[in-house]
Amino acid sequence: MFQTSAYTGDRVKDYEFVTKQLDALVADEKDMIANLANAAALLNQFLDHINWVGFYLWKEDQLVLGPFQGLPACIRIPYGKGVCGTAIKEQKTQLVPDVNLFPGHIACDSQSQSEIVIPLIDKDRIIGVLDIDSPIKDRFDETDQYYLEKFADVLLKAIKS
Ligand code: SME
Repeated sequence: MFQTSAYTGDRVKDYEFVTKQLDALVADEKDMIANLANAAALLNQFLDHINWVGFYLWKEDQLVLGPFQGLPACIRIPYGKGVCGTAIKEQKTQLVPDVNLFPGHIACDSQSQSEIVIPLIDKDRIIGVLDIDSPIKDRFDETDQYYLEKFADVLLKAIKS
């Protein structure tokens, strides 16, 4: 059974710990949806000040809603559109301190004020994105980006094995 652990309050140590928790959760499971669902639940109980965390998966040249925690969200996002479609087009993380200033931002939850989107790409194969929204501006910084990219790497390894 998963135990909600006492994280220490030290952000770096806690990110390292939650990444190990993910590693343990996905170690013996090959089903992608199951692993993404647990990853979304794990991040939801770990990160503070967030209102949505989940995945969009690349299907037939667009992003389609996958496992998530939060309010019901937009189902399909075209290539290059919104923060998620931009992360796929540019193949790099989008760190958005204020979604109101991001041209073409797609508002699924009116609470969202800042956002981070990490593309999940295995060599040349697009898998999808990890998308996290916050109800406060400037919620995510380079430390979040660094560790969430590592978190995404652990997931990618599980997905492709
Ligand atoms: N804001 C995203 C859409 C997805 S929701 O945040 C869940 C975007 O602009 O791509």
